[in-house]
Amino acid sequence: MKSQLEQMRRTAAEKIAGASGIAELEALRIAYLGKKGELTAILKQMGSLSAEERPIMGQLANEVRAGIEALIAQQFEKFKEKEKAERLVSETIDVTLPGKSVALGHRHPLSIVLNEVIDIFLGMGFKVASGPEVELDYYNFEALNIPEGHPARDTQDTFYITDNVLLRTQTSPVQIRYMEQNKPPIRIIAPGRVYRSDAVDATHSPLFHQIEGLVVDKGVTMGDLKAGLEAIAKGLFGNETRIRLRPHHFPFTEPSCEVDVSCFRCGGKGCPMCKGEGWIEILGAGMVHPKVLQNGGIDPDEYSGYAFGVGLERITMFRFQIDDMRLLYENDVRFLSQF
Ligand code: DAH
Repeated sequence: MKSQLEQMRRTAAEKIAGASGIAELEALRIAYLGKKGELTAILKQMGSLSAEERPIMGQLANEVRAGIEALIAQQFEKFKEKEKAERLVSETIDVTLPGKSVALGHRHPLSIVLNEVIDIFLGMGFKVASGPEVELDYYNFEALNIPEGHPARDTQDTFYITDNVLLRTQTSPVQIRYMEQNKPPIRIIAPGRVYRSDAVDATHSPLFHQIEGLVVDKGVTMGDLKAGLEAIAKGLFGNETRIRLRPHHFPFTEPSCEVDVSCFRCGGKGCPMCKGEGWIEILGAGMVHPKVLQNGGIDPDEYSGYAFGVGLERITMFRFQIDDMRLLYENDVRFLSQF
């Protein structure tokens, strides 16, 4: 039995030394030391030994077991080390390789100009307000002094949802909604989408954007209107820009005007951009009609105000010299990446 144990110790040591990997080590451990392994088989002969021999063999068997376990553990560590070293080599990152550049987008030209306008007005103490795009007839027309049957309704071909619900044709309804909720002094701009049943061409789209402006306070005059509009014109088109007010009619303002800016390309001399006129029309404005103030819950005897509405597409097209509005909606990156 002693020679069996010693023989087993030698062959186990050889096989462990020659093992190819962790899996083989585990197989060897089971073969020698497992429940049905070689050591167990040898120990079965213990019964045939004398009482003196038994403890001696028992001790030898324990030594053999401990020796084999230690060898396996040693080999195991070696394999682990080797595996780690290999992984370090295979997972090496070459930090000097060129990186993949991330393609960053940028703002749409309409957003660029809108942000500029918002900046100009925030600097003058205005707040940004908004209202629903699906609007009641009351706010879109009625409260703005455009009663049923008024010819101004015909100029805005409207998308009706029901008889009294529609896609707003202008941002002016935000004036009423804001006045209902807020007391003067009021200084807001309200940018947003508006809808009209217009066929698409170079200057029309069924969906476009307006920026509404409203100022209500004590003693607001047409002079304030002019100063406000001049600030936005200079901010958008440069400090040399002059404005010109022409009489016009809007139902919700009295008096009303259309506002031109001096052509930012020729400075007013006349060029193809301004069609030889020297002036370019950019918005509608006026002093808020007393009825409109009243509809917003504000006493027209105490307060007055001015309002304006400007087409965002129109000023964006002038600003970037874009000659076809459709380009703004086609999302062709070759076009958009120029701005
Ligand atoms: N809502 C008008 C339109 O869509 C534009 C406008 C004109 C708005 C004069 C105003 C204004 O607030 O005072 O044609």
